[in-house]
Amino acid sequence: MEDLGLRTHKVAEISAADIGKTVTLCGWTRRRRDHGGLVFIDLADISGIAQVVFTPETGEAFKLGESLRAEYVVKITGEVRARPEGTVNPKLPTGEVEVEVKEAELLSEAKTPPLLINEEESETREEIRLQYRFLDLRRPAMLEVLKLRHKVYQSARNYLSSNGFCEVETPILTKPTPEGARDFLVPSRMSHGEFYALPQSPQLFKQVLMCSGLDRYFQVVKCFRDEDFRANRQPEFTQIDIELSFTTEEQVRAMAEGLVRSVWKECAGKDLEKEFPRIGYDEAMDRFGVDAPDTRFGLELSDLSDLFADSEFQVFKSNLESGGVIKGICLEGGADLSRKDFDHLTEFVGRYDAKGLAWFKFEDGEIKSPIKKFLTDAQIEKVAERLDAGKGDAILMVADQLSVANASLGALRCHLAKERGLFEKDQLSFVWVEKFPLFDFDNNQGRFVAVHHPFTAPLLESDQDREDLSENPGKLKARAYDLVLNGQELAGGSIRIHDNSIQREVFKQLGISDDEAERKFGFLLDALSFGAPPHGGIAFGLDRMMMILTGCDSIRDVIAFPKTARGVDLMVGAPSAPDLEQLVELGVKIAAPAKTANSR
Ligand code: AMO
Ligand code: AMP
Repeated sequence: MEDLGLRTHKVAEISAADIGKTVTLCGWTRRRRDHGGLVFIDLADISGIAQVVFTPETGEAFKLGESLRAEYVVKITGEVRARPEGTVNPKLPTGEVEVEVKEAELLSEAKTPPLLINEEESETREEIRLQYRFLDLRRPAMLEVLKLRHKVYQSARNYLSSNGFCEVETPILTKPTPEGARDFLVPSRMSHGEFYALPQSPQLFKQVLMCSGLDRYFQVVKCFRDEDFRANRQPEFTQIDIELSFTTEEQVRAMAEGLVRSVWKECAGKDLEKEFPRIGYDEAMDRFGVDAPDTRFGLELSDLSDLFADSEFQVFKSNLESGGVIKGICLEGGADLSRKDFDHLTEFVGRYDAKGLAWFKFEDGEIKSPIKKFLTDAQIEKVAERLDAGKGDAILMVADQLSVANASLGALRCHLAKERGLFEKDQLSFVWVEKFPLFDFDNNQGRFVAVHHPFTAPLLESDQDREDLSENPGKLKARAYDLVLNGQELAGGSIRIHDNSIQREVFKQLGISDDEAERKFGFLLDALSFGAPPHGGIAFGLDRMMMILTGCDSIRDVIAFPKTARGVDLMVGAPSAPDLEQLVELGVKIAAPAKTANSR
């Protein structure tokens, strides 16, 4: 049995089977009620709550009971007894019993907490919750998240260990890894003027480990990315990082699916479908407008450009002339939307740079639309036919450049699906997205950038593909794959380049000179040139996995000590200004108005 230290039981472990026994419990005073000369407290610990009764006969102990306030920590010894009839609480596992205190000891007093610990859903402002994270985490719902997260680590580790994977730690103080975000830099005291970078992922190390012959690697690992934080991003987050030698896309997929199935079975009690569907990147963009499609519902995008080829409607005409497209979705039952609703939706797509939203609704025998007068009946009919729209439905269209039409309608379909309840709360829809482009042309930089990272293998199926690598790189596909769940990228990975000449060609296309490649990733190129096995892998975003397992909308709710959207840890107060001596020692001078700890 578990050694419980100062106590004999955790509070919620006592039950009717213990009636008559003497027990010692420790915990927090969650609630206190005085009545009929008796003091009742709800004593709380990690296991839950038990009712404890102080009776006047106990003298000193009773006095202590009367003095207890919210969140005081006490140790009590007493006898388990059945609750009197009518006072049984069927909602609590310990609801049939209570403990009659014989002895009590105050272990610690508490200041008045600035937030309510009792609440399931905290109503407290998030800044307060993050500043007093120790109290916020004391809330049972938060402790449950931490326990579940622990279970996920265990489940993933067990699955991978039993499939021959070996966990290896890789350095935190290292060199920049090109995952596309900015690096966090750490100045070195001993190598004056030089900096470590925190890893954006262990990508380079796991490839080196494959070259070392480790065969199957994994790590539950922190990654650091200095990027703009959105709802599902944190500057430091956790990956379940995986790499295999002598592997194929099929094998990585099967292994990743096995991991996901095992986590959902053990941590959520759910049996998942046997094989997750796959979709090509191009098709995902066509049908859903984004590369991480939410496939829990329909509302798919259709290209309607050809139907308006000879339209005289100026907005559509000039858009098509400038190389744009017209795409649309059909909202079943959407005819109930008011003009005001459509105005809101127009505002919504505006956030994705769409210049407008054209709509029709098909009411009883009548078509309503602000642009009806610009279009012919035949055009409207054809649009309705393509989108399978009928009575009671609405059609929403965006005319713009393809990227804007896709992004705005892609977001709009998710927004509408959420607003109109088009999916079940606990629905899970996994999909593999594959056949990504290898490169993306960055207009700002005037050069190609890697869509995944520069070590991703190009899909070279034909001589033409090999020729394209040097002549027409924008056409190439990557041997990369993302696992998407409910519209979120849960994991991403690829088969890597293990041939040095292809690696150098890719660097060349990315505008990375031999010199720069040598300086930045010389060690990997070296490792690849001393006998490299074909290899590939994947990394899961563990925090995102937790968000879906718990149903939390905020990534901060599944991380014990998260940072705000501005990258601040409100509890510890980080980042903070260093001491002047530290800066001197590091040889670092702050250019902007310096604010150091001793100059405040
Ligand atoms: P990638 O950059 O796609 O791949 O990251 C893998 C997964 O990590 C999660 N993720 C994040 N989670 C929270 N906050 C962030 N800022 C954040 N950024 C990424 C996502 C994502 O799918 N080395 C490669 C993997 C590989 O090729 O094997 C990599 O890091 O869920
Ligand atoms: P306007 O001629 O700008 O008053 O627009 C007439 C209608 O077309 C309005 O309902 C606009 O919302 C819609 N509209 C304008 N620009 C676009 C666009 N780029 N895509 C779709 N609809 C648009």
